[in-house]
Amino acid sequence: MTTTAGYSRTQISLHWLVAALILFQLIFGEEIGSAFDAMLDSGVASYDLAAVTHIAAGVGVLLFALWRLALRFTRGVPVAPAGESLVQGLLANATHAILYVMMIVVPVVGLYAWFGGSEDAGDLHSWAKPAFIILVGLHVLGALYHQFVLKDGLLRRMMRAGG
Ligand code: HEM
Ligand code: HEM
Repeated sequence: MTTTAGYSRTQISLHWLVAALILFQLIFGEEIGSAFDAMLDSGVASYDLAAVTHIAAGVGVLLFALWRLALRFTRGVPVAPAGESLVQGLLANATHAILYVMMIVVPVVGLYAWFGGSEDAGDLHSWAKPAFIILVGLHVLGALYHQFVLKDGLLRRMMRAGG
């Protein structure tokens, strides 16, 4: 993969926009549950505010994640921070890769549950909450470890565009 001196302004904006959308889904996600149950019972979808915002935010996560992946492959990403051990690097890369998979699979399963009227897909989709909490928790711990233990200013890479 191409390496650059830093993330671009677009990559940084997309990172924080997607983080905010996922946070919104985790806080308000359960609200779509009652519209979903009503739809499974009656066979008719009701597009209340909770359903519309959940679907829009979820589709946003999916499209922005695909955009980010395209940018990773066309523009590139910065090299690993200096001083990072092999294990730390592998852990960071694995966390990022699983987050990307989830940013794509979770909305796709949600869309299948809603538009396919599948209760099983809905149950599977509900694992999004604990899975994102654990993965994002690990990711934030990693970022804080860099910031306060290694003191390598890693957070700045996701704040200010470079290269
Ligand atoms: C739902 C929330 C989040 C998701 C899904 C997420 C996802 C990602 C991904 C996939 C990357 C890899 C770079 C890329 O391709 O853009 C990344 C980088 C990064 N994230 Fe997050 N992130 C989230 C929240 C946060 C938060 C809350 C922080 C701050 C504590 C943070 C700090 C960083 C930093 C500093 C990097 C750059 C790492 C490096 O340059 O090696 N992220 N994030
Ligand atoms: C990354 C994007 C998404 C995240 C993080 C997310 C997260 C969540 C969460 C946390 C819940 C509540 C689960 C619970 O009750 O414990 C939920 C429910 C649900 N979401 Fe999503 N969602 C996303 C995208 C979507 C999309 C695009 C759709 C498409 C329509 C969707 C459809 C649903 C449905 C139907 C439920 C109810 C499931 C049930 O009650 O069994 N989600 N989602």
